[in-house]
Amino acid sequence: MKRKSNIAIDGPAGAGKSTVAKMVAEELSYLYIDTGAMYRALTYCALKRSIDPKDGRQLRELLDKISIILKPTSSGTLVYVNETEVTEEIRSSEVTNTVSIIASHEDVRLEMVKQQQKMAENGGTVMDGRDIGTHVLPQAEVKVFLTASVEERAKRRHEENIQKGFSSDLEQLKEEIARRDDLDSNREFAPLQQAFDAVVIDSTHMSIPEVVENILHLVEERF
Ligand code: CDP
Ligand code: CDP
Repeated sequence: MKRKSNIAIDGPAGAGKSTVAKMVAEELSYLYIDTGAMYRALTYCALKRSIDPKDGRQLRELLDKISIILKPTSSGTLVYVNETEVTEEIRSSEVTNTVSIIASHEDVRLEMVKQQQKMAENGGTVMDGRDIGTHVLPQAEVKVFLTASVEERAKRRHEENIQKGFSSDLEQLKEEIARRDDLDSNREFAPLQQAFDAVVIDSTHMSIPEVVENILHLVEERF
């Protein structure tokens, strides 16, 4: 039987990666893997233990002691650290504003990439993140770099917050997103970068179904 392919979706925060990756995975009966959730889970643990986000050695030791598990369910991916579910906790603003520093350490990234490559070794995954097409799955059959303007991405997060009944400040979100873009794009190890063979989709003026359709079309074209 033909081995299933892997689909890599990279791009900045709020571009719509996880939303469309989930839908593409569902359409193809593939497994959706949210690599950002893994960095967030490590960040959550580090904050709980008061580990300095700049201390790469301690973070790597922490990563050796914990198991980060992504559990797919019909209502979405549940995230566990050992036996504890942390799906909601890893989305806190404290985690969001610290995760890029934690994700900048080479030792942390090497271990995360190893785990992610293992998850995709048999194909059949849609994986989203920042370095999937460049480092985690350079052989992925389909690579997408999904982007949108900072203004649009901040607006999307703002609307999401309002829908959930959270307080939200559009200007602050814009600043936070731009800061994270800057940290993710300018770090030394595996920065957020478009793979040379990725197809760029700018979703600034696109609806979610349009983006999904574009990606499914790329998959069809590829095979
Ligand atoms: O959902 P959102 O776009 O806000 O972020 P995420 O995908 O949950 O990723 C959170 C952070 O983890 C990013 O800002 C990166 O610093 C880091 N990350 C990474 O370095 N490499 C990945 N493959 C995925 C996430
Ligand atoms: O994973 P990433 O941070 O790239 O973005 P997301 O969490 O999937 O999407 C951010 C928000 O933008 C969600 O509320 C989506 O419903 C919305 N959105 C989108 O993803 N794509 C569009 N073309 C329009 C809106």
